[in-house]
Amino acid sequence: MRPESLSDFLDAARAAFAAHVTHPDATASLYRIFTALESPGEMSQTPGARIPACAHLAKATGLAHFADPSLRRLIETFAKLEPDLQWRPRSGDCTNAGPGFAENHANAYIVGPGGIERRSDVWIGMSLVAPNIRYPDHTHPPEETYLVLSPGQFMQGEGNWFEPGIGGSLYNPPGILHAMHSGDAPLLALWALWAEPKNR
Ligand SMILES: [Fe+2]
Repeated sequence: MRPESLSDFLDAARAAFAAHVTHPDATASLYRIFTALESPGEMSQTPGARIPACAHLAKATGLAHFADPSLRRLIETFAKLEPDLQWRPRSGDCTNAGPGFAENHANAYIVGPGGIERRSDVWIGMSLVAPNIRYPDHTHPPEETYLVLSPGQFMQGEGNWFEPGIGGSLYNPPGILHAMHSGDAPLLALWALWAEPKNR
């Protein structure tokens, strides 16, 4: 059984993605993701843990930033779940990471490897980046949809940096190079990856 805090968050995430995502490939990916999530995975027994960069969470999740009802609900349900998350720094390649990156970001899986719900097919999590920090360029095989919850810039492939804004979204096709960069405010973004073949 999923704890109520997790099922409430996943319901809110499904609604928030549905209200804000327009890219057809992202919509299709989210459909696969939330269909798979109708079958719960194994719950983690590991207690939640913060790291120092989580000091930026309070500012990033202030409800005053969120006018849209689906985003407010997302943030409210996230706040209830957050104490159970295992926040970690990124592991792996740090190409083009900005100065101070290592101590100034935190990622948490909500479902997926290391998440509250352990599973391999769907990865949903949150990234928090302290002000004025560039996240490294990275790629991964699973396709990914971001729902952006703060100011901050994003980059995909050979494209220029752009700012989706609060409630903006972007779709990363499998393997595309991407990165993000906070400005004067912390950057907060929810991501959802489909880690199974499309024909499954
Ligand atoms: Fe990514």
